[in-house]
Amino acid sequence: MSEKVIIAPSILSSDFANLESEIKRLQNAQADWIHIDVMDGHFVPNLTIGAPVVKAIRKITNLPLDVHLMIENPEKYIKDFALAGSDYITFHYEAAKNNVLDIIKQIKSFDKKVGISIKPNTPAEAIKPFVNDVDMVLIMTVEPGFGGQKFMKECAEKAVELKSYLKKDIIIEVDGGINNETAKFCKNIGINALVAGNYVFSSDDMKEAIASLR
Ligand code: DX5
Ligand code: ZN
Repeated sequence: MSEKVIIAPSILSSDFANLESEIKRLQNAQADWIHIDVMDGHFVPNLTIGAPVVKAIRKITNLPLDVHLMIENPEKYIKDFALAGSDYITFHYEAAKNNVLDIIKQIKSFDKKVGISIKPNTPAEAIKPFVNDVDMVLIMTVEPGFGGQKFMKECAEKAVELKSYLKKDIIIEVDGGINNETAKFCKNIGINALVAGNYVFSSDDMKEAIASLR
């Protein structure tokens, strides 16, 4: 696993009225990716961003767009998010019925990187059959739906078991409650991508906050 950790700030905590300047601010602060939280009000109890917004963001940045789909029936929307210019498309294992492999295939058919995500109550073992077919596993370290919640350490620990299933290096990303302390714990157990919303956007010095996560 490479030493370099990817920092993917979540724009869920940004000022939506000034999205362009918020994204420029992330770029200047040396963010690696832009994490975009898509919520449908069904899979999670909140509504956020759709494909048209991803398309608008694509026009103003070259940073990889890490699109996290917290939606039911992800297969219906993958095309929209792919054509909008996503780089990574991550769907939830819990939202896939018996069609996990079809969803993976669909994302790959658009030449996009595939991520599969698990909620706090889903064991690592559930996605064992799929981890060697994806580019990234996203482990939720809070219940998905809202920013600013407390990090659940035992969720991050699933990374250790997941790694034992892997035949190749993939990205293992965590999302929820990441700050400079919880980031340290995650990096120590081999997690190599960190999503952070509140910590990055509530800091006085965004560049310093991002650097402190590395
Ligand atoms: C939660 C989202 C996260 C969230 C992280 O459902 O998937 O990306 O914005 O926010 P913080 O870092 O504030 O916990
Ligand atoms: Zn997310």
